[in-house]
Amino acid sequence: MSDQKSQHSLPLSEAMTISAQAIGEVMDGRSLTEVLDQLDAHERPIVQCLTFDALRKWVRSHELIAQLIPKAPPAPVEYLLSVSIALFLQGNQDSKGYAAHTIVDQAVRACSEYEPTMYAKGLVNAVLRKVSLLQAPAKDGVSYPPDPIPMFVPPWWRAKLKKDYSKVWQALLIQQAKRAPLILRVNAKQYDRTEYQALLAQAGIDSKVIDEIAGVKLDAALLLNEPVPVSDLPGFYAGAVSVQDAGAQLAAALLDPQPGELILDACAAPGGKTAHLLERADCELVALELDGDRIGRIGGNLDRLRLHSNKVRIQRGDASKAAWWDGRLFDKILLDAPCSASGIVSRHPDIPFLRREADIKALQLRQRGLLTQAWKMLKPGGQLLYVTCSLFFEEGEAQADWFAAEHSNALRLSAPGQILPTAINDGFYYALFKKNGP
Ligand SMILES: C[S@@+](CC[C@H](N)C(=O)[O-])C[C@H]1O[C@@H](n2cnc3c(N)ncnc32)[C@H](O)[C@@H]1O
Repeated sequence: MSDQKSQHSLPLSEAMTISAQAIGEVMDGRSLTEVLDQLDAHERPIVQCLTFDALRKWVRSHELIAQLIPKAPPAPVEYLLSVSIALFLQGNQDSKGYAAHTIVDQAVRACSEYEPTMYAKGLVNAVLRKVSLLQAPAKDGVSYPPDPIPMFVPPWWRAKLKKDYSKVWQALLIQQAKRAPLILRVNAKQYDRTEYQALLAQAGIDSKVIDEIAGVKLDAALLLNEPVPVSDLPGFYAGAVSVQDAGAQLAAALLDPQPGELILDACAAPGGKTAHLLERADCELVALELDGDRIGRIGGNLDRLRLHSNKVRIQRGDASKAAWWDGRLFDKILLDAPCSASGIVSRHPDIPFLRREADIKALQLRQRGLLTQAWKMLKPGGQLLYVTCSLFFEEGEAQADWFAAEHSNALRLSAPGQILPTAINDGFYYALFKKNGP
């Protein structure tokens, strides 16, 4: 295994310390995005990588910790071990991993910075040496592919998955524990996909076209064979391209905006789907967002993608109420509702550690409030696309059934319904309704 240390400006031991502290913050209930947003630019890439891998490999690292240490270690030591063991496990899957002696040395060094007791140093050293032996290839040179590791989820979450997906729930959790690939959305206002793929190739970046997901045709999605920093993507700062999961790119494809249509993006921040709608058609668009901190990101994205015009309005407001609305009925509404985010945990591995069972019922009620109000703002003949990035039935099919039963003028159009996570897309739910009559 080669040593990656030289690629990063931050020493590995320091990155391990910050990552273990970030895990501590997640365990105290803080979102990892919030924690990572506070880091300096040179710290973030490596700390994010270490922390994401530690959370994705939590189940296996904790099996090993329980096997090797009879009494549970103090929390800071546990988090540092989680970060370090994940490096061994990732090294099994990734030829670019760190050398075993580097992981042990740097973790022991991190103890001095983070948990400066002889006890911690000795314990971390002993445990990681044992892990390195367990992970080493057998002496006769025979090695087997590593066992798949499932994503950590709390018991109530696991029970829901078992109930909703009795045959595939384990495969789902294994898929969600894998690193998510980098997927791009080419800005159709600037390039067609083939043109941009050629630019990538010139820059030495290999990519593959993603033509469809769940039977829906995609015309802007490219999968990168290896992730690269966005600064390496040709024309990124001039708006040529965005990073967006392929499953998320179905929203604009299904709503199919047309020039001149009046469209509401009811839950818009940070604006990924807003931008995709505008890249596809010169429509009149209201991007509505409740959260005062997140709303600024919509404008930032539209700036970079050169998508601002006098036909686009970014507005702060509550989509479950009419107070912000001028009374003009919309041709189409995208309702990308707040949800558990249980479909996107490979990109947000802190989510299973943060959600509580009671959140799901509360989210279901919020989603119903949003659906009810959105329907009132839609023209007769107009279309409403309901989206969540959830795997739970309560936030997907159950909501669509409830909505259709409550609204006799709601005609269900063809849409994929529940999409499960795969190697090229996260998990989403899509239902499309047409307003049949007033
Ligand atoms: C799933 S995210 C939207 C992602 C966005 N559509 C995209 O593709 O980039 C849901 C958003 O809805 C916002 N939100 C939650 N409740 C809302 C409400 N009642 N009215 C408007 N926005 C709301 C949240 O703050 C959050 O930014």
